[in-house]
Amino acid sequence: MKPSCWWLMSVYVTCLHPSLVLAIKRIIVNYSSQNLSSVPPGLKPSTEDLDLSLNHIQTLSGKDFSTTPRLHFLNLSWNILENIDMDTFNSTPALEILDLSHNRLQNLSDQPYLLKAGNLQFLDLSSNMFSVMALGKEFSTLKHLQWLGLSAISIGNEDFTYIANLTLKTLFINTDKLQKYEERSLMGAHAEKAVIALSNKDLDIAVADDVFASFKEVEFTKMDSEMKVLQQICQRGTVRTISLEISKVKTTWEVLTGCVNTILSSAIQQLSFSDLTMTKMIDGRPVSSSRLLESFSTRRASVTEFIFNQTELYDFFISMPARKVSLTQTPIIFMTCPQTVSKIEVLDLSDCALTENIFSVGPDTECSTLTNLESLVLRGNNLKHLGLLTSRIHLMSSLKYADFSQNKLTYSEEQGKCVWPRKVAHVDLSSNGFDQSIFKCLPDSIRILNLRNNRVTTVPADVGVLEDLSILDLADNRLLDLPTCQAFPNLQKLLVRTNSIHSPLPGTLETCPHLKDLDLSRNPFICTCALREFAALIKNQATQTPGVTLGHWPEGYQCSYPESRSNTMLKDFYLPEISCDGWILAVTILIPTITLVVAISLLCHRLDVPWYLKMMWKWTRAKHHAITSQKKTEDMEGLRFHAFVSYSQKNADWVKAQFLPKLEGDCGLRVCHHERDFIPGKTIVQNILRCIEHSRRCVFVLSSHFIQSEWCHYELYFANHQRVMRGMDSILLILLEPLPLYLIPSKYYQLKAMMSRRTYLEWPQEGAKQKLFWANLRAALQANLPIPSEREEE
Ligand SMILES: *[C@@H]1O[C@H](CO)[C@@H](O)[C@H](O)[C@H]1NC(C)=O
Ligand SMILES: *[C@@H]1O[C@H](CO)[C@@H](O)[C@H](O)[C@H]1NC(C)=O
Ligand SMILES: *[C@@H]1O[C@H](CO)[C@@H](O)[C@H](O)[C@H]1NC(C)=O
Ligand SMILES: *[C@@H]1O[C@H](CO)[C@@H](O)[C@H](O)[C@H]1NC(C)=O
Ligand SMILES: *[C@@H]1O[C@H](CO)[C@@H](O)[C@H](O)[C@H]1NC(C)=O
Ligand SMILES: *[C@@H]1O[C@H](CO)[C@@H](O)[C@H](O)[C@H]1NC(C)=O
Repeated sequence: MKPSCWWLMSVYVTCLHPSLVLAIKRIIVNYSSQNLSSVPPGLKPSTEDLDLSLNHIQTLSGKDFSTTPRLHFLNLSWNILENIDMDTFNSTPALEILDLSHNRLQNLSDQPYLLKAGNLQFLDLSSNMFSVMALGKEFSTLKHLQWLGLSAISIGNEDFTYIANLTLKTLFINTDKLQKYEERSLMGAHAEKAVIALSNKDLDIAVADDVFASFKEVEFTKMDSEMKVLQQICQRGTVRTISLEISKVKTTWEVLTGCVNTILSSAIQQLSFSDLTMTKMIDGRPVSSSRLLESFSTRRASVTEFIFNQTELYDFFISMPARKVSLTQTPIIFMTCPQTVSKIEVLDLSDCALTENIFSVGPDTECSTLTNLESLVLRGNNLKHLGLLTSRIHLMSSLKYADFSQNKLTYSEEQGKCVWPRKVAHVDLSSNGFDQSIFKCLPDSIRILNLRNNRVTTVPADVGVLEDLSILDLADNRLLDLPTCQAFPNLQKLLVRTNSIHSPLPGTLETCPHLKDLDLSRNPFICTCALREFAALIKNQATQTPGVTLGHWPEGYQCSYPESRSNTMLKDFYLPEISCDGWILAVTILIPTITLVVAISLLCHRLDVPWYLKMMWKWTRAKHHAITSQKKTEDMEGLRFHAFVSYSQKNADWVKAQFLPKLEGDCGLRVCHHERDFIPGKTIVQNILRCIEHSRRCVFVLSSHFIQSEWCHYELYFANHQRVMRGMDSILLILLEPLPLYLIPSKYYQLKAMMSRRTYLEWPQEGAKQKLFWANLRAALQANLPIPSEREEE
């Protein structure tokens, strides 16, 4: 009984009340099989789903569920319930699913707790100890009831009076223990579908008669192998049933084929088998009716024998006169071609084990009798070669929809040219092994193509134009770039979710003028300059109306690279134009730089900055030198003057008016000035020599006059000698006026050499600069000379 309950539940949940799927998925507080003798106290108030099945609970009291106001699902099946207090469900207004099956409840007229469970949608009371199926008055309050499960020892005429005004979706009756059935009793119940678990006793026939007469949809489970209840169907006067489902039946091939033929001659429109087991595969009767069924389906069928005429089996199914035929989840490896023109419009052979030999007739003959077939589903089989498969189906001239998904299909040109039927418009090739060659094997008339979950890396440009293609699904492939629409000028919907597209080119979308939907989500976008334009484009498309509708925008569009931007949404990705355009960048950097350089040079030129800098540099060096040479006092031995000044008589004015006062007056330097310090009586040469000898530095005031003065040359000559003794910096040149090198006669090569080293101080004409000049000069001459002694004067 247990599996059966599950199955019924799943039928109920999936077919009748999809929202309950969620309910089942919620976490169930599971006390199943815990050897409980009462409902455990202190259930959490948040409990929504509670499984107490397979325990020993005998009574339910008013307190048991008082703490669980949100209780929605309660399974108490397989307990020993005898008493349920009428206040049990007082505080569980949300209770919608209640399973009380397989207990010991006694009196169906006496279930007063139901008065408080007015929201119940599912109520299973089957397999209790009810002697009669007389439903009490309280059942009439269950206005929302959709599924009701019952069983009893006897069923009488008045039993369903109180639910006569309810129309259930499903009424389940387990006739397991049924011993007495009053004819026409079931006609009092109203439901769209009756599910009857048969007892395999004679009563079944009476029950089945009434069921066929009152319910549009009927499902029989646990049918006997003779399938007796079905034999009667044609003898009944009124048959309201149009849909018949037979599940969990094990029967012989002879009985099955006989029954199906019987049903074919009844008024049934839809016939389906599930969990069908076929034995004794002999003595079958071929299909012998020309009445057209709405649908014929078989799910999970199996054959217990190993050796039998398979052709006969396949022929039986494919010859079925029905608009829709399906044979699914059955391990068949082949399907024959109908012998005469078939009326089948929809053929579903999914989840079997078929190969592309399907329907083949002979080496050069293809199946030509499925000309009414519009829809062919071969999902989840063992198909491998699409080229071959198209030749198998190419005479199905009405075919519009082909579903070959979830196979192992590939296509390469060695498989030959593809020959699709003329009208094929919708092809599902998802979850196969196709690469880009698939674009060479598509029907010209295609409108919708599903290539999801394959191995396509590019969409080749050299495929023929598919004028009608409007929907292309390439999600879950390996595309490296966004496909262009050159081959599909009328494309309206393009799905390329979960590929390897990292920086699509914005121009690509321009090739798709009719595009309305685009899903580019979950691609590894590289958020660098290359993507900038495209990101802006799709951002724009997403906000614009009418623009392209972007699937999963914005949360599905994220940067994957660079690392710093990973998980940034494309919506928020922004790079300023300047950081991407090389020219702009260059210009923006170069212009200020050039301006700055020009400005600085202008400024320098105007303010003589280099001159100041040069002077400052010299001053610093001189200061530094003065400090470092301070300690070497022994070098100063015998020195009496800081400097000897040599100049042309023509520059005497400058020396007397500027030079001497500025050095001697302001800072106490001693200068040897020949007019003043020369000792009379000695020759000029002696005087010059004495002066140079006693001076730390020799200062030469250079001018054009200096060059012409003979004495000056002497002085320079001697000083040069002294330089050899005292070091390089003992000579200091002052340039009173610009003195081009060529003016200096070549015999004064020493002066020339000194000049060319530019180790001279220039006398600035501007008064402002002269201060710095003097500071420099002083710094160069400054030194602690020993106090001159009079004796030495001699
Ligand atoms: C209740 O529990 C039993 C046993 O575990 C199970 O067979 C049955 O399907 C459950 N009922 C519902 C409605 O889930
Ligand atoms: C509850 O637990 C039992 C085993 O203890 C398990 O068989 C059953 O499936 C569980 N029920 C649900 C609804 O998960
Ligand atoms: C179940 O509980 C009863 C008492 O309530 C006890 O006698 C029995 O041994 C328990 N069974 C198991 C398997 O724990
Ligand atoms: C069942 O309950 C009804 C209503 O409470 C009562 O009238 C009837 O006698 C009960 N039947 C049995 C067999 O206990
Ligand atoms: C069912 O509805 C009819 C009329 O609509 C009413 O007369 C009758 O009492 C109702 N029966 C129940 C059990 O509510
Ligand atoms: C198998 O059955 C078909 C008809 O369904 C028949 O034509 C064929 O001869 C049979 N094959 C064998 C080996 O009996």
